[in-house]
Amino acid sequence: MKELLSIDDISVSYGNIRALKNVSMHVNEGDIVCLIGANGSGKSTLLKAIMGQEPLVSGTITFDGEEICKAKSIMTRKERHKHITTDLIAARGIALVPEGRRVFADMTVEENLDMGAFLVRDDKLIAERKEAMYDFFPILGARKRQKTRSLSGGEQQMMAIARALMSGPRMILLDEPGLGLAPLVIADIFEKIDLINKQDKVTVFLVEQNARMALRASNEGYVLENGRVVLQDSSAALLENEQVRAAYLGE
Ligand SMILES: Nc1ncnc2c1ncn2[C@@H]1O[C@H](COP(=O)(O)OP(=O)(O)OP(=O)(O)O)[C@@H](O)[C@H]1O
Ligand SMILES: [Mg+2]
Repeated sequence: MKELLSIDDISVSYGNIRALKNVSMHVNEGDIVCLIGANGSGKSTLLKAIMGQEPLVSGTITFDGEEICKAKSIMTRKERHKHITTDLIAARGIALVPEGRRVFADMTVEENLDMGAFLVRDDKLIAERKEAMYDFFPILGARKRQKTRSLSGGEQQMMAIARALMSGPRMILLDEPGLGLAPLVIADIFEKIDLINKQDKVTVFLVEQNARMALRASNEGYVLENGRVVLQDSSAALLENEQVRAAYLGE
């Protein structure tokens, strides 16, 4: 098994609030890995750090053997001058589906998908990928000329996932895809995530407050509390873990 993403001893601060404290996580290619944790535990911060949207105070993040993020304090002088941007990280094959979906509500579904392909130069490839998305999410095909604001919450989440896939990523980061959606809709979305992983071989890093859904959908899991990793194990083992059952599964 090949390690695709390696997060090593990272810390992130907002002013004097330390949101992540010496966090290390590893994602193997082809896996679905979940990160569970309460409100404010630092889940979104971790995903933003991977995308280069928040600077690291300590540590490094490596994707496919190449360092994509590094704390300034441990950079060489040369490294300080070649800043790796979010676009470059995306171009290496990571796509984020942000919390709250962040769709462009006044744009049509098709225009949103085009935005997801901004790094793709080949128009034919963009057209092919869009067709593949309309096959995979038929509701998006049926609504492609409609403004996104007319879509339901679940449909908007599907569109946000499709938009991320338009870049042809090797790994997608999903920030609470089930947030605010009805259980049946969440089940639909998780089924799609599983297909994206199994059929398209996209590695998945899933952040969720809905611990039961996330652990059932994944191979490996991490638990974050107050910015620290407090548990890591196979998802099957975490589902049986007393501490997880009491704190996250309401058992
Ligand atoms: N831009 C910011 N400025 C200052 N503090 C922030 C900022 N973003 C997040 N924080 C703080 O950092 C901590 C971690 O927040 P984060 O959004 O990463 O948590 P989360 O686990 O994603 O929470 P939620 O489940 O509510 O989405 C919280 O204490 C939060 O208040
Ligand atoms: Mg969050």
